[in-house]
Amino acid sequence: AHRLIIDTDPGVDDAFAIALAARSPEVDLVGLTTVFGNVALDLTTRNAQRLLAHLGRVDVPVAKGAEGPGRAGDVHGEDGLGGQALTLPENDRLDHRTALAFLADTVTEDTTVVAIGPLTNIAEALESGVRFERLIVMGGGLGLGNTTERAEYNFWSDPEAARTVVREAKPIVVPLNLTHRCIADTEFLARVDPVLSNLTGTYRAYLSNRSENTGIYVHDAVAVAEAILPGTLRTKVHSLDVDDEGAFVAGNHQVEVAEDTDWPALRAFMEQRLSV
Ligand code: BDR
Ligand code: CA
Repeated sequence: AHRLIIDTDPGVDDAFAIALAARSPEVDLVGLTTVFGNVALDLTTRNAQRLLAHLGRVDVPVAKGAEGPGRAGDVHGEDGLGGQALTLPENDRLDHRTALAFLADTVTEDTTVVAIGPLTNIAEALESGVRFERLIVMGGGLGLGNTTERAEYNFWSDPEAARTVVREAKPIVVPLNLTHRCIADTEFLARVDPVLSNLTGTYRAYLSNRSENTGIYVHDAVAVAEAILPGTLRTKVHSLDVDDEGAFVAGNHQVEVAEDTDWPALRAFMEQRLSV
């Protein structure tokens, strides 16, 4: 099994991503680092712990990272997980290190890091000299946004950090263009762990008010799938940069962008791993 760390802001699709990793024997989930994002840091951190408890994985350490505003409570629910009564583990102690220190201590040459929230922790780690051999980032959109017309939520939440990561960390980027084709519809949700499906109420209501969508996007789980089974996503190198709004623009930095996947196959894989 290869080592995996997820940097996350749970978040409903983050929950699906964490569950996928926790239930996949191909990877050894060595920790979660948390960041503000969908909701504020105290909530995303608590949500990471609640999820691990539900998944029977309180062995996985949680290290708390960067603070900032949580501005997607309308999508993910005020608590970030659709207002569901997931309980905290009895021992809810966090790792004694900050996310930054945890990454510095724990990222090795054979560790994959998947970043599925704002990139603040990852950019700080880069700046303090952490080297990422394999980094997969969910974020950005090519000519496509979900927060402004041009910017995707994770990049928009900390554009400067997104720029640092895109310029310096050689990530595989999983953009909205791909994740918008990866929808967990009601049929999918009916087959997976009901605790996970129950998290999706607020998110489904939000999307169905704005589109034909009756399911949810599983953005973050698509990025984690690539860590579990490398080659799941087909990538192409683009010359890009990130502007002050957090939008991808043409630039001189070579970025490997995930462009395509066999969604029916990936969907079946997720369904199998996420059902109980
Ligand atoms: C990204 O933003 C968050 O709301 C989701 O969890 C995902 O990481 C999609 O734009
Ligand atoms: Ca996320």
